[in-house]
Amino acid sequence: RRRVRTHHLLELKQRGEAWPMLTSYDMYTARIFDDAGIPVLLVGDSAANNVYGYDTTIPISLDELIPLTRAVTRNVKHALVVADLPFGSYESSPEQALASAVRLMKEGGAHAVKLEGGRAYAPQVEKLVTAGVPVMGHIGFTPQSEHTLGGYRVQGRGDRADSMLDDAHALEDAGAFAVVLEMVTAEVAKRITAELRVPTVGIGAGPDCDAQVLVWTDMAGMNTGRTARFVKKYADLGGTLARAAHDFADEVRGRSFPAAEHSFH
Ligand code: KIV
Ligand code: NA
Repeated sequence: RRRVRTHHLLELKQRGEAWPMLTSYDMYTARIFDDAGIPVLLVGDSAANNVYGYDTTIPISLDELIPLTRAVTRNVKHALVVADLPFGSYESSPEQALASAVRLMKEGGAHAVKLEGGRAYAPQVEKLVTAGVPVMGHIGFTPQSEHTLGGYRVQGRGDRADSMLDDAHALEDAGAFAVVLEMVTAEVAKRITAELRVPTVGIGAGPDCDAQVLVWTDMAGMNTGRTARFVKKYADLGGTLARAAHDFADEVRGRSFPAAEHSFH
């Protein structure tokens, strides 16, 4: 296998082959997911919730996301690594967006960046793409705007669908290589996917998107709290780890660990 490039994702869309994407914030998951053949890894600003313990993605900074990006990029052989532009790092101007993206690429080693927002951010996308930064768009429910959107709500219902379609087209026209659709009705996601040349990446956006993304801590059951309806839990790592910690604690307290084979003489 060779390194995944953005044009490979376009080719998969043309062939009608769906592809998976997962978040990753550290060395182990980067290696495991890369070896498992996940073609695109996202160092999402969801690291705010899943690494740093914030309640939302709003507080995470570039300085917090860059070391995680570095850890992931240093440990993949094939995957395309996309890093999120955090809230506050790109909205002001295309120049601000470029300065932030350059940090994610130079210091973090990212191969591409993702930013939230529709047509209002087309100038940012164009600036980045012109400068050599591949950009993934992200529309629908955009967590950085949760206070404007009024919480976790499905987007694009009713007469809002056309506006979302316009956003998707504006991002494609500005040069985005893919567009994430988050919490969008399956019907609207299907329409956008059919109209765009570039792949759509769904999360809570139905089965017709070109790709599907999940937050790894959700899909692997590390997150023991309540998860969204669109999450499927493929493992119970949280439970496995808790049992390991309990077993270790019991054996230390019962003096059965370390045993002879773990000791030096
Ligand atoms: O940060 C993140 O995990 C994301 C995905 C949910 C698309 O943006
Ligand atoms: Na994100």
